[in-house]
Amino acid sequence: VTSATAYEAVRLADAGFDDILIANETVNVVALDALVDAARSAHLTVAVDSQVQVELLQAQVAAADVRVDVLIDVDVGFHRCGVRPGSPELPAVGRAVMRSSHLNLVGLMAYEGHAMQEADPAVRRRLVATATRLIGAERRRMRDLGLPCSVVSGAGTGTFELAVEAGVLTEAQIGSYVLMDRSYAAMGLPFEPALWCLATVISRRSPGEAVLDAGLKSLSGEQGLPGSEIDGVEIIELNDEHSIVRVAADRALTIGDVVPLIPGHVDPTMNLHDSVFAIDAQGEVESWPIDGRRSTLPA
Ligand SMILES: Cc1ncc(COP(=O)(O)O)c(C=O)c1O
Repeated sequence: VTSATAYEAVRLADAGFDDILIANETVNVVALDALVDAARSAHLTVAVDSQVQVELLQAQVAAADVRVDVLIDVDVGFHRCGVRPGSPELPAVGRAVMRSSHLNLVGLMAYEGHAMQEADPAVRRRLVATATRLIGAERRRMRDLGLPCSVVSGAGTGTFELAVEAGVLTEAQIGSYVLMDRSYAAMGLPFEPALWCLATVISRRSPGEAVLDAGLKSLSGEQGLPGSEIDGVEIIELNDEHSIVRVAADRALTIGDVVPLIPGHVDPTMNLHDSVFAIDAQGEVESWPIDGRRSTLPA
């Protein structure tokens, strides 16, 4: 299972997951402490993209006498973290890992985040093809350098199908597919939305408009507005605590009505809530805490 932070990895390990990838660079000392914590009870793989990070990581895990597997993160076009393809950084980082007594080099990470939300399928395919070519070449370079590379990890919900078809990855890091969101739902992917925020109509200030009691503190808006599950009801604006809604002339909507909303972006939306209600196929409801949501562990 993939986590974005060492803190999430601790939560996942506490919950019984025994094979966890932190698909992110962990550097600060508090985060490295959390990483060590997770590594005490789970098999942990972590991403690195610099010698500095390798040294910090090695010092912390060696002091605790725990071992972790390591992937070298390669920038295949997203331009976030990752060594540049073809650069001298890859062998330098690889050799630094090989010199580290408590780190075990297992391969490469190639997250093609720049293709993830690309709406045009032809462009998305082209971006994934380029990323595949780049990571394929880096994998060959690893082998030529005598560096181990049995794992190539990448992909997200938006690129999963194309990445599998391309055939270079040995594992996928996809996560949003479980719940989906409005931006992914618009892309025609083979997954269904399973997360709604129930908002209540609190005002009908005009025949064509209504106001709901859920805004930016309940639904993230940075990847577009939430979608409404009721025909003729469309979110047009998000304020802190309110959604402004356009209501079709033939749609009856009164104060107190509930409007299920599909978040624009699932990850930061989940992070805004303490718990989620899980409903099974028989309609049984359970409340699940979202205890991995904080970016740091509680004191
Ligand atoms: C490095 C990395 N891997 C995997 C994912 C999962 O992508 P998704 O949630 O779109 O499936 C993300 C999401 O942000 C990510 O940053």
